[in-house]
Amino acid sequence: MLKNDTFLRACRKENVEHVPVWYMRQAGRYDPEYRKIKEKYSLLEICKQPELAAEVTLQPVKKLGVDAAILYSDIMNPVASIGIDFDIVKDIGPVIFNPIRTKADVEKLKPIQVEEDLGHVLETIRILDRELTIPLITFAGAPFTIASYLIEGKPSKNYLKTKQLMYSEPDVWHLLMHKLGDMVIAYLKAQIQAGAKAVQLFDSWVGSLTPQDFKQFVYPTISRIFTELKDVQVQKIYFPGVSSGELLPELRDLNVQVIGLDWRVSIPEARKRLDHRFAVQGNLDPTVLTAPQHVIEEHAKAIIDQGLEEPGYIFNLGHGLFPEASLEKLKELTAFIQQYSKEKIQS
Ligand code: CP3
Repeated sequence: MLKNDTFLRACRKENVEHVPVWYMRQAGRYDPEYRKIKEKYSLLEICKQPELAAEVTLQPVKKLGVDAAILYSDIMNPVASIGIDFDIVKDIGPVIFNPIRTKADVEKLKPIQVEEDLGHVLETIRILDRELTIPLITFAGAPFTIASYLIEGKPSKNYLKTKQLMYSEPDVWHLLMHKLGDMVIAYLKAQIQAGAKAVQLFDSWVGSLTPQDFKQFVYPTISRIFTELKDVQVQKIYFPGVSSGELLPELRDLNVQVIGLDWRVSIPEARKRLDHRFAVQGNLDPTVLTAPQHVIEEHAKAIIDQGLEEPGYIFNLGHGLFPEASLEKLKELTAFIQQYSKEKIQS
């Protein structure tokens, strides 16, 4: 049973007693207990054990006192089901053994079989739904961001091969977006049925596109995904990732409640670009977490002050936590965000 639905109320732009907070990558290597589990099991091995994946999801919830949990999984998890052979390699990230380069490669991709191939993820969600007293966020990677890994074969700085395919063979590109869109829709629907209270679509690298190219090559699929989920009663979040400030005006018609912001755009400016239509989530630069506590809190305060100018604000980072973050500092920051915002709302 939910005891704390502050996060869901903020998504709906309703009144809250304090600003809800969670952190992208809140389960992770900054926590010694997590590192210990990682000595025994890889990320994918943890995901295949629902009890363990649920425990890893719950660790930061218990330690930090956040207002939402995020499923322990990875955006690459569902691609095995469509025929992609990959691993998540230490200190690198996702590595694809059969990268996608041709029309035939795209045509070969199979439809996702969620129950059969990702039953362990759904089981983890069911366990968490029983155990959590705060909302569970589950997620998928967005088609452009997934495609960038499938095409490059590994993390990339400039997405050269991805954009080459996009510009040179638009029909193949659109087929790939369509197939990945189908994958995301089926996967998110199954997650919601298993008990997710909110879903976030991570489009971490789409900010590498011009607004025009985003509109032409990516937006139609994003729009289709959220239109398909329009009548499902959970909160929907689109996170357009790194350097996405220039794309914000293109998002005004999306069927979502929340847009995730990176730190390169201020919250008031982002709201203006979004025509004040959505709740916003963000946007502390995660490198600030390496600073002394009073510096972290000054930055958090400035962001909260901006966030509270309008209804619908969720504190988060502009991107994922670094392994260098400190558990103690995060715990203090979480309490600070909740206390400072509570006083500010009451006054
Ligand atoms: O946020 C959470 O606590 C939930 C778990 C989560 C992971 N990946 C686990 C993970 C989430 C939400 C993701 C999403 C994800 N994965 C994204 C989108 C968010 C973002 O950061 O932009 C992306 C682009 C990926 C792909 C990916 N997975 C990369 C680039 C890496 C390597 C980077 C790194 O930090 O090492 C991974 C590996 C990964 N996924 C780790 C974790 C905790 C770190 C390695 C590990 O602990 O095994």
